Amino acid sequence: MQFSNIKWINNNPYSIDYNDIYFSTDDGLQETEYVFIQGNQLKQRFASHDISHFTIIETGFGTGLNFLAVAALWLALAPVGAKLQYISIEKYPLTLADLSRAHASWPQFAAISHELLQHYAKLKAGNNIYNMAAGLIQLTLQADDILDAIPQISQIVDAWILDGFAPAKNPDMWRPALFEHMARLSHTNTTFATFTSAGVVRRGLQATGFDVKKHAGFGKKREMLSGVFIE
Ligand SMILES: C[S@@+](CC[C@H](N)C(=O)[O-])C[C@H]1O[C@@H](n2cnc3c(N)ncnc32)[C@H](O)[C@@H]1O
Repeated sequence: MQFSNIKWINNNPYSIDYNDIYFSTDDGLQETEYVFIQGNQLKQRFASHDISHFTIIETGFGTGLNFLAVAALWLALAPVGAKLQYISIEKYPLTLADLSRAHASWPQFAAISHELLQHYAKLKAGNNIYNMAAGLIQLTLQADDILDAIPQISQIVDAWILDGFAPAKNPDMWRPALFEHMARLSHTNTTFATFTSAGVVRRGLQATGFDVKKHAGFGKKREMLSGVFIE
């Protein structure tokens, strides 16, 4: 397992390998809430009375900011006893020290972050399964390339968080095989959201059966994509 090679700019992580930011330097948490939570309508769906479990797959765990925000939302809104399965695949995990430093910016998630950091200290290559929040959240953190990991997954997904660096900087991740496996693991009403509006992503998702909509992007990004699997 190879750890990420990052530097800190104004207390924000920056990937030296990919030459890209981990999240918006305007406000990473607001970006998560706008792009991924609103883009997948997670508030409304988590608060639905008949929900007993929900599965998310994320491409690129990074600092875990999306996970922390989604986990907190789940604990606040989901019906009593309902279970969240959050699967995140990460090729180059942050070191424990870098992860802790990033989390210090979000004291509102201190409880779930504390639990995560204890597990993360024992991170190993391949599958890491963490039972958290008294069993209400299971995080599967797979330290692997998404394109190697996703063929092994059989879990049907309710929402996709497509985070990965910009397609222009990380073309290896945004390949047709990713979109084909997304379709294999989706049901009608499975949603996706992503910060990018790159044509390769829009066309790849449309080609595999997703209805793709463009929206105003967050911060400096002009547009983003979200949508639903219809086929
Ligand atoms: C923009 S960052 C993710 C930000 C993250 N969601 C957060 O909240 O910090 C993109 C992440 O995708 C990971 N990544 C890039 N290519 C990948 C691949 N092919 N498979 C798995 N992870 C990948 C990077 O190592 C990086 O951590």
